[in-house]
Amino acid sequence: MRSLVVYYSLKGKTKGVAEYIAKELKADMERIEPLHPINGEKFMSFYGDRDEFGNDTRTDISPPKHDWKKYDLIVVGTPIWAWAPAPPVHLYLKREGIKGKKVAIFSTSDGDSRDALTKMKGQFAGNSVIAQKEFISRDVIEYKISKKKAVAWARNLKKSHP
Ligand SMILES: Cc1cc2nc3c(=O)[nH]c(=O)nc-3n(C[C@H](O)[C@H](O)[C@H](O)COP(=O)(O)O)c2cc1C
Repeated sequence: MRSLVVYYSLKGKTKGVAEYIAKELKADMERIEPLHPINGEKFMSFYGDRDEFGNDTRTDISPPKHDWKKYDLIVVGTPIWAWAPAPPVHLYLKREGIKGKKVAIFSTSDGDSRDALTKMKGQFAGNSVIAQKEFISRDVIEYKISKKKAVAWARNLKKSHP
């Protein structure tokens, strides 16, 4: 099964988990790259910044490097921002309009993601969402724990969908 792990990461935690999963699945990786730097300390900045010319800088991301159509399984990973998937991931999904694929989704958060992943599932109409998983950043800092969890999750994906 050809797999692609698509993720966004501001501080590296989602990246870490995405790498463990990708290694286990022998997957290619697509890092979603905002065109403008995001300042996560300025909590709301991404939702409403304008550049010096007055252009809305919120939502722009670089064109993807991988074509999701070439893969059987798409794994999408996002940090949770304000109880929702981070906006760059939301935009990627809106733009790409993934259809007809097996999809697995995961998040990293500080422990309060509410129903973010369930809502995110709603963006995958026309696909089969085969798994979802939340990783807590406390564990992610303890890389040993998150590695174990991420690898176990990826193995399960492989086993149930060879
Ligand atoms: C702008 C912003 C909003 C956040 N909102 C939430 C939240 O609503 N719930 C939560 O549990 N963590 C929240 N966090 C924490 C991140 O989801 C968490 O640390 C995540 O693992 C970071 O992933 P990264 O290192 O890949 O960027 C927020 C972080 C940022 C920067």
